[in-house]
Amino acid sequence: MLIPRDFNENRFVYDAMMPVFPLIAQQCIDDYQLDQGICLDIGAGSGHLGTEIAKITNMKMYYIDIDPEAMALAKSVVAASNIDNETHFIQADICQGLPLEDNFADFIISRGSMWFWEDKVKGTEEIYRVLKKGGTALVGGGLGRYIPSTMRRRLTAHRRNVGHPEGYRRLTAEELGAVAIQAGISEFKIIEEKPKVKKGGWIEMHKPME
Ligand SMILES: C[S@@+](CC[C@H](N)C(=O)[O-])C[C@H]1O[C@@H](n2cnc3c(N)ncnc32)[C@H](O)[C@@H]1O
Repeated sequence: MLIPRDFNENRFVYDAMMPVFPLIAQQCIDDYQLDQGICLDIGAGSGHLGTEIAKITNMKMYYIDIDPEAMALAKSVVAASNIDNETHFIQADICQGLPLEDNFADFIISRGSMWFWEDKVKGTEEIYRVLKKGGTALVGGGLGRYIPSTMRRRLTAHRRNVGHPEGYRRLTAEELGAVAIQAGISEFKIIEEKPKVKKGGWIEMHKPME
């Protein structure tokens, strides 16, 4: 669906993005002190971001995507990476619910997927449901804050040239905040990618211990 049918023909799209994944993974480890526990990568696509998190933690990884071809690709990326973390692959639509119990995951990352969800509020509610008490989820999209400005400029230009798949709609910071409120998230903040970027960014949500 959203992963190009012929991965090799579209290699340049992935190659350009490749340096971004370890930078976002490092940002997550620094911000949320990740090491042990369960991590979900929702809308994992090729699985590169989850795999970069796996490489520098001992987390059990769950790669989740609506697209069976994305799951197949993620499996091959994980196999080629030689990580020894426990890994699971689940094909599911986040808006229809995940086959996981409440309070399941210590950390949830979802990058570039929400822009495609048919019901962003339902998807966000579902993420919150499976997040453990005391856990954090980072949901939205962007290049993260560790990316050098030269690389950000290059990738932004590249993205303009390549274009976006059908159904892609990034939200503004206000829209992201409205989704979090409608989903009933009590503790969240909106992280904007750059002050001048009007769309994109992240909902960082925290589930209180009570
Ligand atoms: C642009 S790709 C992002 C992939 C990866 N997270 C990254 O950062 O490169 C968006 C992914 O979200 C998945 N996706 C879209 N809608 C979804 C849904 N409702 N539930 C689960 N995955 C979904 C797509 O199949 C696709 O693999």
